[in-house]
Amino acid sequence: MRIILLGPPGVGKGTQAQFLIDRLGAVQVSTGDLLRAAVREGTELGRKAKGFMDAGDLVPDDVILGMIREKMGELGDTPVIFDGFPRTVAQAEGLDELMNGLGLGIDKVVELVVDDQVVIDRLSARRSCPKCGAVFNLMFNPPKVEDVCDSCGHKGLIQRDDDKPEVIANRLKVYHDQTAPVANHYDAQGNLAKVPGAGTVEEVKNGVQSALGR
Ligand code: AP5
Ligand code: MG
Repeated sequence: MRIILLGPPGVGKGTQAQFLIDRLGAVQVSTGDLLRAAVREGTELGRKAKGFMDAGDLVPDDVILGMIREKMGELGDTPVIFDGFPRTVAQAEGLDELMNGLGLGIDKVVELVVDDQVVIDRLSARRSCPKCGAVFNLMFNPPKVEDVCDSCGHKGLIQRDDDKPEVIANRLKVYHDQTAPVANHYDAQGNLAKVPGAGTVEEVKNGVQSALGR
């Protein structure tokens, strides 16, 4: 089973991916998380990607497709939730080609849909644990103890560098210009489901669940 979670920055792709990996025994492939890990580790990929990410621009398609090719080679036919990939029509076409070559397919593409203002509110209040990666929200999903990770107990939650207001604005622009057309690519293939993303985490989770028919 391979599912793609599409949608603007901050819509809740990572949050919903967590539920799906638990329920489906799947692996989350988040290109954003892979890139941030490469930046932290100071690899060549991380050095190439950092400037694009800090500005809220997309990392070039060939870099991303190379990363996905390597990841899919490791995963074989393990169930996968793609989060934040593909983000351009060229990436979607590259994934089609890769999947055909592996004799695999995409089962469902779930597009989470919200207004830009919801994204701005959510991203401004997002905090994450630098140790285990758990994600919180000061407004909508605060940690039980202020500034302490519920999952691993680490003290000192951080704000992502690209969650500054001017970078959020560019990420939204890039989304509308380059990523929104990816939905049409999958609609034409007949496996797109649109789910409202503005409700509570639980409401969105139910929407995703019914879109997947399980
Ligand atoms: P990436 O890490 O993919 O960022 P993004 O797409 O901008 O999305 P986010 O991770 O910010 O949001 P999300 O939808 O996962 O929401 P979350 O669950 O955290 O990419 C970062 C950068 O890497 C890009 O800008 C680009 O430079 C590069 N990159 C990555 N992939 C690439 C690709 N394929 N091609 C080229 N470049 C690429 O939730 C957000 C907040 O809201 C959290 O605080 C959460 O707790 C809260 N929340 C979630 N759901 C709800 C809800 N229902 N109600 C209230 N609050 C909620
Ligand atoms: Mg994310």
